[in-house]
Amino acid sequence: MFDTSTRTVVVVGAQWGDEGKGKLVDVLAERADWVVRYQGGANAGHTVDLGNASFILQQIPSGILHPGVRCAIGNGVVLDPERLFTEIDQLVRDGVDVEGRLYVSDRAHLVLPYHKLVDAESSASKAIGTTGRGIGPAYEDKIGRRGVRVADLRHLDRLRPLVERGADHANAQLSRFGSRQKADVSETLDLLHTLAPRLLAMADDVSLSITRAMKSGAAVLLEGAQGSLLDVDHGTYPYVTSSSTTSGGAATGAGLAPMAIHAALGVVKAYTTRVGNGPLPTEFDETLGERIRALGNEYGAVTGRPRRCGWFDAVVVRYAARVNGLSGLAVTKLDVLDTLDRVAICTGYRFHGEHIEEFPADIAALDDLHAEYEWFEGWKSSTSAARKLEELPAAARKYLDRIEALVGAPIRFVSVGTRRDQIIGS
Ligand code: GDP
Ligand code: IMO
Ligand code: MG
Repeated sequence: MFDTSTRTVVVVGAQWGDEGKGKLVDVLAERADWVVRYQGGANAGHTVDLGNASFILQQIPSGILHPGVRCAIGNGVVLDPERLFTEIDQLVRDGVDVEGRLYVSDRAHLVLPYHKLVDAESSASKAIGTTGRGIGPAYEDKIGRRGVRVADLRHLDRLRPLVERGADHANAQLSRFGSRQKADVSETLDLLHTLAPRLLAMADDVSLSITRAMKSGAAVLLEGAQGSLLDVDHGTYPYVTSSSTTSGGAATGAGLAPMAIHAALGVVKAYTTRVGNGPLPTEFDETLGERIRALGNEYGAVTGRPRRCGWFDAVVVRYAARVNGLSGLAVTKLDVLDTLDRVAICTGYRFHGEHIEEFPADIAALDDLHAEYEWFEGWKSSTSAARKLEELPAAARKYLDRIEALVGAPIRFVSVGTRRDQIIGS
């Protein structure tokens, strides 16, 4: 993806998350100087399989497994410091050098224990099927201007009123939910006092650091979390996460000018999955759903929940191509379809007798529409050893060509297995 004029690339999920962003970021980080997460938090689970070891990264950018790459957590992330330290300590135990090359924006908001409490106790969170990581409540506090930021830890003596304001709000919500749980101001303050020195040692003006690096020609990867259909504006609202997952979010979430981003790579599975509730127009029936779940090991990397599975939805990905300005696609998990007799792509929807090809905003419509499919012969042979497009079976190439044509973005990568080396394209 990187060349002399393409120096800053954003990688986004172009479905409902878990498309394989971690794998693609790891592959692309080979040639990057910086990798920056720009939104979400510990709701993300990005898997990187090196072959001899596998890692699930939640808040730390997936570039961390390349020793020379600097990694940053941008201002747009809601950061859970306890989980961050657990993640760092695990990586260090696994022999990955982290300290000194991981930076945290001092403008990032913190996920505090009461955010997780509110997420766990809220019936609205249950209805959406959130990850329970406190993401929604932390973003609510950020937008409601009662958040606590990394920079606030520099003035521990001034922290109490900030925490009290957040805890009061959380407690009002908890009592409205009829919960017996309570936010504890002293415990939260004690926790922050304990965590502050270690976190402040990583605190940085991330926007400034990457802008300086970009000026000196650095290759910068911006790593999205979740997927475009989980974006708070463009997703299947209210069944979404609480951040801007799409490429526009990368500019605000990393502190860059939108025009400083030169390319956007959309990661998609060769089929579709979603974890949590909400519309999934191409969802399989139970039999095929179970088969693909087993073949693709479709269980959430964070919560272990079974992922719902369906056919590739070209309406969804064409929509994602538009809202992200995708310059290319990475299609992952092609190998998962290797044994199927036939495969389908959704090309449009039928809604009350009408044919539609643009993804609707209306959640009621989404519940009511029927996917229309184009069918393809299965290739019935293993793709996992292919390293060039020419090495793929003709039927698989035909399937990919149709995806490319329907989505309107070129396929730059095809992934045929979990491992770093199981990829076509560079
Ligand atoms: P992310 O959240 O977008 O980074 O994706 P996840 O890591 O949550 O989920 C993707 C899953 O698919 C992980 O278990 C990956 O190891 C796996 N994966 C990625 N690419 C491929 C592929 O091409 N083939 C197969 N079989 N698995 C893949
Ligand atoms: P990665 O980065 C898939 C889903 C949850 C729920 C909704 C809101 O690994 O692709 P939240 O906890 O964010 O308030 O939950 O979003 N969700 C994800 N689904 N992959 C993810 O991240 C997700 N992060 C959140 O299941 O439906
Ligand atoms: Mg994931």
